[in-house]
Amino acid sequence: MAVPVLAVEGLRLAIRGDEGEARILDHVSFSVAQGEILGIVGESGCGKSTLIRAILGILPRGARIGAGEIRFEGENLLAFSEAELDRTVRGSRISFIPQDPYLALNPLFTVGAQLLESMRRHLPGTPREHREQLTKILRRVQLPDAELALDRYPHQFSGGQRQRLLIAAALACRPKLVIADEPTTALDVTTQQQILVLLRELVDDMGLSMLFVTHDLGVVAELCDRVGVIYAGQSVENGPARHLLRAPMHPYTAALLACHPDRSDDFVGIPGSVPSPLRAPPGCRFAPRCAQAQPACTLRDPALRNAAPGHAVDCILYDAQDGGR
Ligand SMILES: Nc1ncnc2c1ncn2[C@@H]1O[C@H](COP(=O)(O)OP(=O)(O)O)[C@@H](O)[C@H]1O
Ligand SMILES: [Mg+2]
Repeated sequence: MAVPVLAVEGLRLAIRGDEGEARILDHVSFSVAQGEILGIVGESGCGKSTLIRAILGILPRGARIGAGEIRFEGENLLAFSEAELDRTVRGSRISFIPQDPYLALNPLFTVGAQLLESMRRHLPGTPREHREQLTKILRRVQLPDAELALDRYPHQFSGGQRQRLLIAAALACRPKLVIADEPTTALDVTTQQQILVLLRELVDDMGLSMLFVTHDLGVVAELCDRVGVIYAGQSVENGPARHLLRAPMHPYTAALLACHPDRSDDFVGIPGSVPSPLRAPPGCRFAPRCAQAQPACTLRDPALRNAAPGHAVDCILYDAQDGGR
């Protein structure tokens, strides 16, 4: 099998604070193949943004990686120095689309001044060639008046147009992997829809891979090939989007689906809330909210086990299927 573009295995990230050490991520595992969009799903507070920071090598203060690997094109990123990450990975081979296009652009500078900077740092060519390349990408992301955009200021664009600018910026240095952190949540529903269609087209045309982080299973159903579900910092289920959404195995995935039947409905929510990592329950962290919990759930060591080809789950309900344990 081809080497995945990104493979995260058994990742643990702990932050030391006044109240002790908290495992914000514990046993997170998934992989993204070439040309694939992997959705990372979980409620707010489950560790999605922290996971992205770990991959990009921009850890929060006091954080350390306690276990696991992050392999990008076969290389372990955790062994890279800060300078190597900056020079050869971040913003070039791995790029990022932020959540809020209103916050991500500096109002004081033209779009060109901001978007051309990373091209200047990472790509050969003259400023003029960079402008031409970027204008071409702005046309590709269907920004109106692409030729004029680089000399305009952010306030001259709508939210959807700003997100197109940021998508163009993410593509400018010809990345292998694009990471998007809830890139449509700040946009209205129609614009959201257009951006999702655009992202799918770009991934398919350019042979990119994408890690798409969201709390919205409706978005996953539309966009993603595969899904990784995380709960309170732990991987609970990974599988092909179609299977996982039609026949979820983990009770958390099932609960997320049950309270989110249609994107237009109000989010009802699963009773209870995601625990703070400082007060994470032992064993399966979902057990206190799980309708199918058993006493033994609190004793489990978290670990994804293969339940079907390409489909893995971490739940006591499926343990018997894995070698009769
Ligand atoms: N720098 C930090 N220090 C302490 N706790 C943090 C820090 N960053 C995030 N957390 C905690 O880690 C958990 C996951 O946060 P986050 O990654 O932002 O989740 P998500 O993006 O899924 O909403 C939350 O409980 C959050 O409070
Ligand atoms: Mg987040």
